Amino acid sequence: MAPENNGENTPQSCERLIIALDFDSKEKALALVELLGERIGIYKVGYQLFMREGMGLVRELVALGKKVFLDLKMGDIDRTIAAALRAVPEGVEFVTINGGKATVAAAREGRGKRDRPLILSLTFLSSLDQDDLRALMMNENLELDEYIRVFTRRSIEAGCDGVVASGESIREIRHEFGNRLVIVAPGIRPEGKTRNDHKRALTPTMAIQYGADYLVVGRPITEANNSIGVADAIIREANAAFAGRD
Ligand code: C5P
Repeated sequence: MAPENNGENTPQSCERLIIALDFDSKEKALALVELLGERIGIYKVGYQLFMREGMGLVRELVALGKKVFLDLKMGDIDRTIAAALRAVPEGVEFVTINGGKATVAAAREGRGKRDRPLILSLTFLSSLDQDDLRALMMNENLELDEYIRVFTRRSIEAGCDGVVASGESIREIRHEFGNRLVIVAPGIRPEGKTRNDHKRALTPTMAIQYGADYLVVGRPITEANNSIGVADAIIREANAAFAGRD
């Protein structure tokens, strides 16, 4: 006799979990997308995959009904940024901009009257910490929190829709700017998993409690022997944390 379907066999999904497709080929990327099925609706395409597969893969993901976070951390002269934004295809939900006020303003101009893609400003890579910031900026007194706060304020003033932020800075940004922006958080590591190169990693629960709207997870799922099991555990944890917060 077939078991009664009490819903337990239906996988949960999470609209606010983004999987980073950091693979070397379209085949591997699409295999994971197929494996995860309805669980995941947004995929991040960054340099590793984009350099090999380009916008063709982005369009394929869109054709599969997925939204795409196009993480090309774009930084260039304003005219080029505006032109690039005009060329972003339908279905791209987020793009990342690496620059200040003028760069964000140029991206907005390129987006025109469309409401997508949302323009995210990069605050500071989660693989770097305050010592790295000081070395990079050649300023021994610079505080990471202060840098991120000023940077975020300028980005909002320029019209960015959100920021990519990690670690403690998520809490600072949410506290300072309230709901005026979307916070997308990479550097997510479930309890007990390797942090890889992240100096400022957070668990899904912590990132959501700090105020993240979206979580980006790559290697814990893409390199797992049991990607579905890890994804399901993260989905359950994230959904519980969002439910407890919202
Ligand atoms: O594998 P992992 O979960 O560390 O993947 C994180 C993803 O988020 C990578 O694709 C990386 O390019 C991106 N990232 C980012 N900004 C950060 C940290 C990671 O865009 N501060």
